[in-house]
Amino acid sequence: MSVSPDRDLQAQATDDTVAKLPRHVAFIMDGNGRWATARGLPRTEGHRQGLETLRKIIRHAGKVGVEVVTIYSFSSENWSRPETEVSFLMGLLRRFVQRDLSELHEANVRIRIIGGRKDLDKGILTLLQEAEELTRDNSGLELVVAFNYGSRDEIVRAAQALSEKVAAGEMRPEDVTESAIAGALDTSGLPDPDLIIRTSGEMRLSNFLLWQAAYSEFYFCDQLWPDFDEAAFDQALDCFGARERRYGGLSAKTF
Ligand code: FPP
Repeated sequence: MSVSPDRDLQAQATDDTVAKLPRHVAFIMDGNGRWATARGLPRTEGHRQGLETLRKIIRHAGKVGVEVVTIYSFSSENWSRPETEVSFLMGLLRRFVQRDLSELHEANVRIRIIGGRKDLDKGILTLLQEAEELTRDNSGLELVVAFNYGSRDEIVRAAQALSEKVAAGEMRPEDVTESAIAGALDTSGLPDPDLIIRTSGEMRLSNFLLWQAAYSEFYFCDQLWPDFDEAAFDQALDCFGARERRYGGLSAKTF
C-alpha cells in the first residue's frame, strides 16, 4: 500500500503545531483604489503607495524569517480595467523590477514569476525573465510575483501539459496524480501557502492559488493595502501562530 497524502498531512499537522511561523505567506493586496479615492486622488496614486507598502512588507518578511512571499500583483482579469490604469500598473511593475532588483539581489532575495506568459508584452517578459535569471541562485526570501495570473488559467495550462504527455504516451492516465498536477502548476516546487492575507475587508480568493490554498489559513483585515504595515503584518503572524492546523485530521492534543 502506498503512503497516502493524508498521512503526510497528519505529520505536517504535528510539525505545524510546533512551528508557529508560516513558511509561505501570500498577499492579496487590495484597497489601493479606495485608499486614493478617499483622499480625492486618482486611483493610480493608491497603486503607487501600494508599492511602498510592498517594499516594507518584503523587508519585514525577510527579517522575521518567512521563507516565501507571494504577491498578487496583476490578475488575468485585471486587463478589463481602464487602459490608463492597466498601463500605469505595467509601468509600476517595470519600475519595481528596474529600481529594486539590485537591492533585492543584494538582500539575497530569489524572484520567481507565476502566471500566463503567452501574449505578454515582450519588454515586460524579458525584464521578468532577467530578474528570475539574476536571482536564481539566491538562497534568502523567495519572492513569487503573480503577474497575469489566474488560478483557473494555471490549472487549465497544467491539465493541457499533462494531457499532451498522456497523448504522446509519455504518461499513463493513472500517473496524473495530485503530485503530478502540483508539479505541472506554475508553483511547482514551492511549499503551499500557510497563510493568505487579504486587506481591505474583502473576503474572497478572487482566482488566487485555488489548488495551493487547500489547507491555507486565511486572514482578512480591514486596512486598505497602502495602510498595511509591519505592525499589521505582525498581528497577522500572531493570529496565525494561535491557529491549530488539522489538515482534516484530529486535534494534535488528542494524539
Ligand atoms: C487591488 O486594489 C490591487 C491591484 C489590482 C494591484 C496591486 C498592485 C500593487 C500593490 C502595486 C505594486 C505592485 C507591483 C509589483 C506592480 P484595487 O485597485 O482593486 O483597489 P480597490 O478595491 O480599492 O479598487
